[in-house]
Amino acid sequence: MLLKTIRLRDRTPVTLRLMRPDDAPLLLDMHHRLSESSIYFRYLRYRIPTLEQLAKLTQMTPDVGLGIVATIETPVETIVGHAYYIVETDDQTTAEPAVLVEDRFQGRGLGRALLDILSAVAWEQGIEVFNALVHPSNEQLLGIVRRSGLPFQSKYAYGMREIQVRLNPDFRP
Ligand SMILES: CC(C)(COP(=O)(O)OP(=O)(O)OC[C@H]1O[C@@H](n2cnc3c(N)ncnc32)[C@H](O)[C@@H]1OP(=O)(O)O)[C@@H](O)C(=O)NCCC(=O)NCCS
Repeated sequence: MLLKTIRLRDRTPVTLRLMRPDDAPLLLDMHHRLSESSIYFRYLRYRIPTLEQLAKLTQMTPDVGLGIVATIETPVETIVGHAYYIVETDDQTTAEPAVLVEDRFQGRGLGRALLDILSAVAWEQGIEVFNALVHPSNEQLLGIVRRSGLPFQSKYAYGMREIQVRLNPDFRP
């Protein structure tokens, strides 16, 4: 199992590991702690997923998608962020990524760390392109993409911003 402990900018240790089926209740707990704006930027509406929807996400097989969670021990394990991708095409080379960091952990480098590791894992699984639909004023996410060093294209569509990021083998978090 992929497991890595990182330190955020303020030195807080956070563990990154693969998402697993028993994470669904912890993911729901995290969603209940989110601000309205985080929910909106993530889902582009004010509604959080159900336990059943999150459970489905945690049970993905690699041909469908793959997820990573960020956890802290407080003293019980608590999920404070996650990132995943869902494979889009039949040839398994394009995927749609998503990332979410609990508000109290935002701005400390966790979103970037999650996306870096997700990109590396996706490449290992044969994914070459990430396609994402992002709210045009989501500067945090756009900042991460710009600073990732990965080539990307972006265009406006239906009032949102469509971003296409090209993964590559030289990219290592
Ligand atoms: C987007 C999100 C995942 C970013 O997570 P995070 O942990 O706050 O991100 P990081 O701390 O790694 O930093 C984000 C980068 O954006 C930059 N940034 C932050 N706020 C910014 C702002 N208002 N304007 C411009 N850049 C900004 C930071 O400088 C940072 O770049 P740096 O590492 O070079 O300093 C988080 O804000 C979140 O969960 N938002 C709600 C859900 C969402 O929008 N998901 C994305 C769509 S699926």
